Amino acid sequence: MHVSTPPFSPYTKDNPFAARVLENRVLNKDGSSKDTRHLVIDIAGSGLTYKVGDSLGIYPANRPQLVEEVIELLGATGNEPVLPARLTAALSLREALTTKVSLTGPTKKILETLGALTADPKEKEQLAALLAPEAKEALELFLGQREYIDLLEEFPGAKLTPQAFIDHLRRLMPRLYSIASSPKMFPGQVHLTVAPVRYESNGRRRYGVCSTFLADRVTRRKTPVPIFVADSHFGVPADGAKDIIMIGPGTGIAPFRAFVQERVATHATGHNWLFYGDQHAATDYLYGDEWKKFVAEGRVARVDLAFSRDQAKKVYVQDRMREAAGELWAWLKGGAYFYVCGDAHRMAKDVDLALHEIIAQQGGLEPAAAADYVKQMKKDKRYQRDVY
Ligand SMILES: Cc1cc2nc3c(=O)[nH]c(=O)nc-3n(C[C@H](O)[C@H](O)[C@H](O)COP(=O)(O)OP(=O)(O)OC[C@H]3O[C@@H](n4cnc5c(N)ncnc54)[C@H](O)[C@@H]3O)c2cc1C
Ligand SMILES: NC(=O)c1ccc[n+]([C@@H]2O[C@H](COP(=O)([O-])OP(=O)(O)OC[C@H]3O[C@@H](n4cnc5c(N)ncnc54)[C@H](OP(=O)(O)O)[C@@H]3O)[C@@H](O)[C@H]2O)c1
Repeated sequence: MHVSTPPFSPYTKDNPFAARVLENRVLNKDGSSKDTRHLVIDIAGSGLTYKVGDSLGIYPANRPQLVEEVIELLGATGNEPVLPARLTAALSLREALTTKVSLTGPTKKILETLGALTADPKEKEQLAALLAPEAKEALELFLGQREYIDLLEEFPGAKLTPQAFIDHLRRLMPRLYSIASSPKMFPGQVHLTVAPVRYESNGRRRYGVCSTFLADRVTRRKTPVPIFVADSHFGVPADGAKDIIMIGPGTGIAPFRAFVQERVATHATGHNWLFYGDQHAATDYLYGDEWKKFVAEGRVARVDLAFSRDQAKKVYVQDRMREAAGELWAWLKGGAYFYVCGDAHRMAKDVDLALHEIIAQQGGLEPAAAADYVKQMKKDKRYQRDVY
């Protein structure tokens, strides 16, 4: 028997592949307050392979305007040689600020340095007040609203050399994105669903490093995007006859598009049930046409939608779960797998609570027994989460 082995790829987290973006399309319709992107990344020829449920790691570059502002505030040209921590060869300040260091998340240490260096008594006083042992909360709030650029701007009396500045910065880390395609449907490609992070703090517009790198600064087919595949335990059941329930509001939809593609490609006989939510039905049903087609073709048994802002009272995916409690319990009793992807801070917690309540109520179980049921689901890998 011939067993085909995947092609070997030399590309890893430490040696990323310089991929190109083939497509960058806004998924939301006109009038939406959101700007979620569908990205198609070319991995043909890289030897990279992935499974549905895996994530793609991406090394971003900082915004050029931000880098130039920092160089100016340092009174530098950008050509000064610097050596960031853990690197063995010097590179220019501009290059280091663009691809090697994080310009966000300033720490107490830089305030201490600025306090020691500043020649301005007012700055010294302000920094001493912030660093006083009793000012812990104020310091946290102060740093939480700022990036390194704010500090260079607010404390011009302290002159940091390019190397001294670089020494304060952490490494620029790669970001992960859930893969939204099956390699069986789109060989040589990786699809992603990316929500650009944009907000304001301390009177400045802020741009999430990697999400806006992908959405705004990568030129199609031109800009090299360093990528690697991050293996995950999140994934479809090995047995295609198992039913699956997928909870994926917002960008949480990404892996489930991949799951259904995979199950179609492998002729899996198990049923697929999706819970999806976002702000408005008219503009924010991500991949809505694809889901409608999957349902029409009988590939997806059921889609329950929760558009939070189409009525006075918010409706979320967990509300739809509660409305469908009887059927959801019947699927779980039948051995269905339960998946959650998306926001970890609020949604995943509320969905977990709803799951416990539904199991207790429908199964006639005490809360402790329902919790045991959920624990067992986790042990059996029937409850999997990919939340961030
Ligand atoms: C396994 C996994 C899968 C993921 N899949 C996806 C995916 O499919 N799609 C997707 O879009 N993302 C996904 N993410 C999230 C992604 O990795 C990034 O965290 C996200 O894109 C933000 O990165 P960034 O570099 O753009 O922003 P950063 O520069 O890292 O900035 C983000 C930070 O900005 C701050 N911030 C953000 N909004 C505000 C605000 N309103 N007010 C104040 N501060 C704020 C917070 O401190 C936040 O941590 C996933 C994460 C993981 C771990
Ligand atoms: N850790 C992270 O960095 C992280 C994680 C997730 C999202 N985000 C950021 O949030 C922005 C949008 O993300 P997204 O497009 O994935 O959508 P999202 O903000 O997660 O919203 C998707 C849907 O979920 C609803 N929702 C809000 N709270 C909920 C809850 N407690 N339970 C269930 N549903 C809830 C939203 O409703 P309402 O908005 O109407 O309340 C909306 O209808 C992006 O900037 C993204 O990067 C960041």
